[in-house]
Amino acid sequence: MHTILLTRRLFPEAELLLERAFHRTRNHRLADGVITQLTDPVDARFMDRMPRLRVISQCAVGVDNIELDAARARGITVMNTPGVLTEAAADMTWALILAVARRVVEADRVCRAGAYKGWDLEYMLGREIAGGTLGIIGAGRIGTAVARRAEGFGMRVLYHGGSAPGAARKMTRASLPRLLQRSDVVSLHVPAAPATHHLIGARELALMKRTAILVNTSRGSTVDESALIDALRRRVIWGAGLDVFEREPAIPAALRRLGNVVLTPHVASATRQTRGAMALTAARNLVDFFRRRPDPGRVVTASLS
Ligand code: GLV
Repeated sequence: MHTILLTRRLFPEAELLLERAFHRTRNHRLADGVITQLTDPVDARFMDRMPRLRVISQCAVGVDNIELDAARARGITVMNTPGVLTEAAADMTWALILAVARRVVEADRVCRAGAYKGWDLEYMLGREIAGGTLGIIGAGRIGTAVARRAEGFGMRVLYHGGSAPGAARKMTRASLPRLLQRSDVVSLHVPAAPATHHLIGARELALMKRTAILVNTSRGSTVDESALIDALRRRVIWGAGLDVFEREPAIPAALRRLGNVVLTPHVASATRQTRGAMALTAARNLVDFFRRRPDPGRVVTASLS
């Protein structure tokens, strides 16, 4: 039997599965496999504390907290949980789009403060979503699922980057500047990587419509947060919905003070069903790895010998 370590607790069903297949240890030196979560810094130092380590099973789709080169250099396989969180993340993206467009959080605050003084024709006007244009940056699994939901709103969908699996017919490929200029809603679905760092900065925000909404449920590093704060303050764009931040869990006070942004604490995949499926997938990934039948779709670095 192999020995594994969990950096944090998982749901009971996932822990039960692991209990049946492995010895559990808290001693890093003894672990053949580890289950990590997004906030664990899995760097070379972490790996060097684990001389027997052969596999890192990340309980998330993003692996930007893991030094992949260090894992590769040590012959350690890294696996993740794509697929199981697609629908939850797409739902949350839409929750943010609608919350920003229709000022849901602001309206809720008015009601709670006892400040609602009665219906008025011009009171608390938002943006209409139906019939507009949605721009998806990164048309992978989640981006495509967000686009699918846009059909119900009669939206035209542009995309930039990604392979648009299964939805290519209904989406129009566009350059980034064109997508930014044409879209009423711009939604980010790219992984954190040097190539996507500050993909949206002052120049890109200036290309967007003054009535447009930016939504980020991907990674904070993809948006230059200071440039976004400035753009929101000066009303260069209408508003933003953010589930991720540049220096999580820190959220700049300047962002928190703005009325035209809706903020959520990295919870796009946070339903019991989806988080449970992520934990189970991470557990199954370990089992499959040691049975030598890892799903290639879930292998990030391949050192399977
Ligand atoms: C969440 O952000 C994930 O990468 O699973």
